[in-house]
Formats: sequence, C-alpha cells, structure tokens
Amino acid sequence: MTEKLNIGIILGSTREGRVSEQVGEWAKQIADQRNDATYEIVDIAEYNLPFLGTTDGTEPGLAKWTEKINSLDAFVFVVAEYNHGLPAALKNALDVAAPTLWHNKAAGIMSYGSTGGARAAEHLRGILGELFVADVRTHPTFSLFTDFENFSTFKPADLHFENMTSLFDQVNSWGKALKAIRN
Ligand SMILES: Cc1cc2nc3c(=O)[nH]c(=O)nc-3n(C[C@H](O)[C@H](O)[C@H](O)COP(=O)(O)O)c2cc1C
Repeated sequence: MTEKLNIGIILGSTREGRVSEQVGEWAKQIADQRNDATYEIVDIAEYNLPFLGTTDGTEPGLAKWTEKINSLDAFVFVVAEYNHGLPAALKNALDVAAPTLWHNKAAGIMSYGSTGGARAAEHLRGILGELFVADVRTHPTFSLFTDFENFSTFKPADLHFENMTSLFDQVNSWGKALKAIRN
C-alpha cells in the first residue's frame, strides 16, 4: 500500500484579525474526513520569518520553516487578496525557503476576496510555476460578500464542498505522482 502523503494547508495571511484561520480550519475539517492523506494546518505566523535577506538567517523560525516545507509532499494554499496580489507574508514564506524544497510537489489554491481572491490566486500560480510546484486547476473562490457574514465570519455556500473535494482529489493524485519523481 502506498504511504499517505503529508499535505500542509498553509495559512497565507499573518494579519491581526485575519479570517484565514477560519477558512483553513474549514478545509481541514473536510480533509480529515477523507482518510487519504495526513493533513495539517501550517501557520506562517507561528514561524516569525524575517524578510528575505534582512538578517543573518540564523532565526530558529527559518530552520523550522525549512524543516516543515521539507516534510510536506503537497500544499493547499489559503490565499487572501491584498491589493490585487497575494499577501507579502506568503510571498516571503515562499522566497525564504530554499527553492528545491518546493520542487516537484503539488498544490491546490483556495482564495477569498471581493472577487473571490482570483487575482491573488493567479499571481500565486506564476510564482508556483517558477518553484516547480504543480498547481491543480480546481480553485475554490470565496466571496467576501456571500461566503462571509459581515466580511468576518466564514459561512461558505454549499457548492464549495464539492470544489474542495475535487481539489483534494487532484492534489492527492498529482502529489503521489510527483513523490515518485522525487524518490
Ligand atoms: C492591505 C489590504 C489590501 C486589500 N486589497 C484587496 C484587494 O485588492 N482585493 C480584494 O478583493 N480584497 C482586498 N482586501 C480585503 C481582504 O481580501 C480581506 O480583508 C480579507 O479578509 C483579508 O484576508 P485575511 O483576513 O485572512 O488577512 C485587502 C485587505 C488588506 C488588509
């Protein structure tokens, strides 16, 4: 029997008062019912990552981040839209890990914003291409107007469950295929 993949659900916002935790927890609840992989929430905020190149690189958070990304076979990025792009904290987290730690791994993207975070997600796709991360097509987009109450309490419409299922199916199959390449 093939070993289960380790899949990180990466919270892309570190902002005080962020909603990304709620979105990530919802995804994790769906993931945990699947029994096909080991899923965990990976919170960039917990690593206190310095901005790339601003320190001597000896912060313990950097070493922990490297270890965490190394341990993961695939990712689900929870992406907020900030000024039509992805949050700087997420971009920095992608930049500070050695590029090879991302190579030949799979990813899914879920995003939110006034237009479902679509611009931030497309921004992220280009970055993932550069990092040799294979991002799957299915992309659940959550509207701040209809999938949140008062822009702050996550109440996703029912249709998103099906999209998340498809995302997890694809991330698992591509993740397994790419793991074979890495091995
Ligand atoms: C600096 C900043 C810029 C933003 N720019 C956009 C934007 O361009 N498009 C959009 O749809 N929402 C934008 N928003 C709204 C965010 O998508 C919304 O606040 C969301 O809750 C942020 O995710 P978070 O709470 O997990 O940090 C912006 C929010 C911030 C803080």
